[in-house]
Formats: sequence, structure tokens, C-alpha cells
Amino acid sequence: MYRTHTCGELRIAHKETETILAGWVQTIRKFGSITFVDLRDRYGITQLLFGEELTKLLDESPLGREFVIQATGIVQERSNKNLNIPTGEIEVNITSFKVLNKSEVPPFTITDETDGGDDIRMKYRFLDLRRNAVKKNLELRYAVGRSTRNYLHENNFMDIETPFLIKSTPEGARDFVVPSRMNPGQFYALPQSPQTFKQLLMVSGYDRYYQIVKCFRDEDLRADRQPEFTQIDCEMSFVEQEDILNMFEGLVKRIFKDVKNIDYTDTVARMTWEDAMWNYGNDKPDIRFGMELLNIKKPASVYVTKSDRTDLVGGADFKVFDEAETVIAIAVPGCSEYTRKQTDEIMEWVKRPQIGMKGMVFIKVNADGTYKSSVDKFFSEDRLKAIADAAGAKAGDLVMILAGAEERTRKATSELRLEMGKRLGFRKDDEFRLLWVLDFPLFEYAEDDNRWVARHHPFTSPKPSDIELMINTSPVITDAAKYLEHPYANIKANAYDMVLNGNEIGGGSIRIFQRPLQERMFEALGMDEEEQNHKFGFLLGAFEYGAPPHGGLAFGFDRLCSILGGSESIRDFIAFPKNNSGRDVMLDAPSSIDAKQFDELQIKLDLKNV
Ligand code: AMO
Repeated sequence: MYRTHTCGELRIAHKETETILAGWVQTIRKFGSITFVDLRDRYGITQLLFGEELTKLLDESPLGREFVIQATGIVQERSNKNLNIPTGEIEVNITSFKVLNKSEVPPFTITDETDGGDDIRMKYRFLDLRRNAVKKNLELRYAVGRSTRNYLHENNFMDIETPFLIKSTPEGARDFVVPSRMNPGQFYALPQSPQTFKQLLMVSGYDRYYQIVKCFRDEDLRADRQPEFTQIDCEMSFVEQEDILNMFEGLVKRIFKDVKNIDYTDTVARMTWEDAMWNYGNDKPDIRFGMELLNIKKPASVYVTKSDRTDLVGGADFKVFDEAETVIAIAVPGCSEYTRKQTDEIMEWVKRPQIGMKGMVFIKVNADGTYKSSVDKFFSEDRLKAIADAAGAKAGDLVMILAGAEERTRKATSELRLEMGKRLGFRKDDEFRLLWVLDFPLFEYAEDDNRWVARHHPFTSPKPSDIELMINTSPVITDAAKYLEHPYANIKANAYDMVLNGNEIGGGSIRIFQRPLQERMFEALGMDEEEQNHKFGFLLGAFEYGAPPHGGLAFGFDRLCSILGGSESIRDFIAFPKNNSGRDVMLDAPSSIDAKQFDELQIKLDLKNV
């Protein structure tokens, strides 16, 4: 027997018990003729006491950090208790021990606050995974998975696996491809998601499907994106949007309860895409705090329902505002006393290439009710007051104004809002705010090809009220300059995203389930009949055999875990992640393959530009 207890198990109630422990040597502390060794395993740390005789043995043949040992002894009360750890009241007085395996000196310390940088920890990820901090993240991930499975099982969902070697599924990224030896010159694609399979399962009658499943996307990586990541992928038949929203906010609330012991009793907030863009400047607003965007010039026509807004800046002869497509203000609470140095620093922040603005205008709403601005020359105090009031600024606030091209300015103001929210402590890790973003546009316009692209994916249904219009209207854009006047520009999708603290944690839609509408959709995306049949013949065919109305969504499992764990990076919640260049530095993958493997695949490598 290797062990009778784990290193996290023994308490004062075990006093006088004989125990055998096995684990890794965390620390060795010699005090005169005796030695203390902290032994670690997955469950915790237990202090071992090596008396005089055994310490002599250790002198002859020393233990080292990360040695694997087995030790037998008697549990006794510690004289010097450590109440910070669960086993801190006891120690094990060792009678015999055995080294099961030695260890090289690890390249970094296996402690919560390690001295190892990112690269070295990834290279030795098997050592990094021994650290408590990483282990806690994987435990959280496991708990989220367990809670998910329980909830979905209780609600009649069935876990069904779908294949990885498939044909391309468009989710907006590039495919990873795998050559086929048995079909020379042909390739499988790895699924960007199981989208078409789950729809086929609905046609087969499995009306509630789920899978915690790997997805593969060849796209540019960021802190919240990996080339292979995991989704909680779900689909339901005979449902409307409302049914799906209810079912899956139920899931997230259950996860909050099971994993964080949070009772999320509030109704989940809802916002249209247009309001999200208009009031927050992005489609995944962080609603833990206000500081909403105020558009102080007439809006661009993409925001159709907002075109009646008044212009608060015109006629002042201030060129920067007059020439800008968009002018947007935010009221930053309690910052009216910012010094010149502080406002200059923020000005530099918005000028960084990632934000890309040329400058910024400030209005200080002083505590005594006066207004001070860098544009006093152009705007009377009354006009400054009108802008500040409209932005919701109170005495003591600082109004920040950005002006420029619509898309860039909106995005920059959104970033500025998030940055100021962070600096002012409004974005707390332990506060969770859920939000559904609804009514996305069905299409986006692709200028380069003068055609439509699907905003979500090509299987998403338009709102029921737009179906007729879509079937009866040709998708062709005759005048590229007037694409916004094409009826398709205003078609809204039956699609929804779930947002948690400013992160898109999931998204889905009600699907198209009738062949003519699906064909129309493909046509709008620029696919002729031949291409449709080549790529999606199987799905169009299936729609002819009694496809039920259906819809679903997928959560980003890694992302959900990282937010619940209070981290920006999903890598911390993946046992063996890739780095930002998509490399596994531990395996050194991707790598070249043998000439023999190329021969078997009948592939000759002829790399361009290398
Ligand atoms: P979507 O593409 O929106 O929808 O993906 C669903 C969720 O997956 C997460 N996600 C990612 N997480 C980590 N790394 C990535 N590269 C990555 N890409 C996406 C996000 C996202 O919200 N088939 C549809 C779902 C549906 O319509 O049912 C789909 O895949 O959190």
C-alpha cells in the first residue's frame, strides 16, 4: 500500500493514528538535529517531523524539492500550530520513509507566487499544474462542468458526441484541415463548432441535445481566444427565442449557485444590439457600471431608431466637431479635479495606436456649479452645461468627449469607458452582471465583395416578421454606396448573445429550418446553387425530411470559467493551453513531420514565401 491518507486529510482527531503518506517534497527545514519536511499532494500539505536518527539518514542522502517520497509515522499535535492550513494543528512523527523517485531541481518554485515567467511555466506545464493556484482553476472548471451536466440532465438534455473529422462549418474563422491518407489530395476540416450536426440531430428527433465539446478555429489569438477551445453546445426543438433564453439563464444561475454559492435572483437584463452599440459602443457591454455614451451629434444611419437625436455641438464653428462623423461624450464621476498632468495622461492613452484617436475634449463640472473646458473659446457656459447635463454629469464630474469617424470613435469611447471604469474600481471581479443582447442585424455588409455576410452564422433565422421580405426580395446590391437602403440592411436576426461583465460568454439563434429560406440565405452570402449543394447539400436535403423548428446556443466554457475565477486569461483555466502564436511550447507543436508521412499522404511540401 502506498498510502493510508492524503496530505490534506489529517486533523487533530487523528492524533496517535499510524499513517502512511505519499507525495512531493515541498520544503525541507533543518533545525539542529531534527528536520521538518512539508509533503504535498493534490489535497494539501502535511508537515512531517524527522527525528534525530532519521535526520542523520537525511544528512547522508539528502532529500530535494519535488522528490516523491512515502513516509510512515504517527500523527501528533504540533507545538507550533499553523491555523492558516487545514492540517496545521498536526504533524506526522516519521518512523520510516522511502524515496520513490528523485527530482531534478525544478526550473521555478512550485508555490502560489512563483518566480517562473510565462514561457518557462508553459514549457514545464506539468510542474506548473502542481501549483495550488493552477489546481484551483482546474477544480473550478471541473465544478462548472459538473453543474452544467447536472442541470442539463435534469432538463432532459442528452449528451451526444459528434465527429471531429468533418467538412467545413462556417463560424467566421479559418478551418484547421487534416489530410486524408485514404483519399489522397482530400482534406477533412476540424469543426469550428458542431453547428450542423446539432441541427441534424434535431431533424432526427433528439429534441434536447448538449455536448461539452472541443472546437477548432484558426484565428488571431487573444487573452480570451484559443485555437482549440471548449463549448457547452446546446440545441432544442419546438422552441421560440423566449424558451431558450429562459432555459439557459437557468443554467448560468445554477452554475453561479453550485460553483460560487451566489443566488442570482435578479432577472437577467436584456438590451437590443442597437441600444448596446448606441449606449455602450459595443455589442457586449459591461453593465456593472453606468457612464453611458452620449451621442452629441446626429448619428450615423446604421442606428436606424436613433436618427431623431439632437445635435448639441453644431454651429459653434469648432472644426473638430463640425468635421467629425460622430461626437460622443461620457461623464466620468468625481474626476473634475484632475490635474493637467492627469488629463494629459488620458489624452495620451486615447492617442495610442490601439485606440487611435487624435485628441480629446474635457469639460470640468466644478463643485461650485461652474464649467471649465478646453473649448471655452467655442462654447458658451450654457452650451457646456447643456452637453454635461445631457451626458448625466453631476457637480464634481469630468466629461470626456471624442470626435471622429463613426466606427473608430464609438469603439474608442467604449474602450475609454471601460478603462475609466477599471481605474475607478467599478469593475469588481466578485460582482457578476448578466445581460442578453438581442435583435442583432442578420447581415453585415462586406465592402470588398459587395455582398452580405452572416453576422452570426448562415443558419440563423431572421425575425419571423422579416421572413416574407427576405424570401421575396433579391439580395443583390445594385448600388454599393447605398447598401444601407437595401431592405436586407434592416433585417434583424432571431439571435442572442449572453454577456457577463463585458464578455461574450455565449451566443446562439433560432435556426432556419425550411429549405427555400436556407437557400435564399446562402444566395445572399454569394453562394450559387452548385456551391450550396457542394457545401451544404446534406443539410438542405435533411430539411426536406421533416425538420422541426429548432434553436440553440453555445457557451464558451473556458471563458465562463475564467470570468468566474476572476482572471482575464482563459489559458489559466486550460490544463495544456497554446501560447499567443498558437504553439504548445511543451510539446513544441506544431512541428514538421517525417518524409514518410508525406509519402503516405502523397503530399509534396512546397512552401511559398518561406
Ligand atoms: P460562437 O461562434 O458565438 O457560436 O461561439 C460560442 C461561444 O464560444 C466562445 N468562443 C471562444 N472561446 C475561446 N476561444 C475562441 N477562439 C472562441 N471562439 C468563440 C465565445 C462564444 O460566445 N455554433 C454557434 C453557437 C450556436 O449558434 O448555437 C457558435 O459556435 O464565448
